[in-house]
Amino acid sequence: MNENYMGEDYIVVKAQENGVTLIGLTRGRDTKFHHTEKLDQGEVMILQFTEHTSAMKIRGHAEIYTRYGIVKSESPSSGGKPGK
Ligand code: TRP
Repeated sequence: MNENYMGEDYIVVKAQENGVTLIGLTRGRDTKFHHTEKLDQGEVMILQFTEHTSAMKIRGHAEIYTRYGIVKSESPSSGGKPGK
């Protein structure tokens, strides 16, 4: 653990259905899941990329706010159609 590490960007995820899954992927040569978090409809999580986390996978219908803009993830069961 590097105590001087300043941290990096944040993203905000707002779940649009129950059971949206956020998965943190490790930084470095290996890419492994190291943390999983579940959000229910309307719940918001604010996440930071860190020395441990360089990528995140978001599964389910959610709005994802980033410095690059807003993207919507869709539910795997929606057949690619946006949710209600
Ligand atoms: N462990 C990888 C890394 O730190 C995770 C990762 C970041 C990744 N960006 C990626 C894996 C793009 C595949 C594609 O670089």
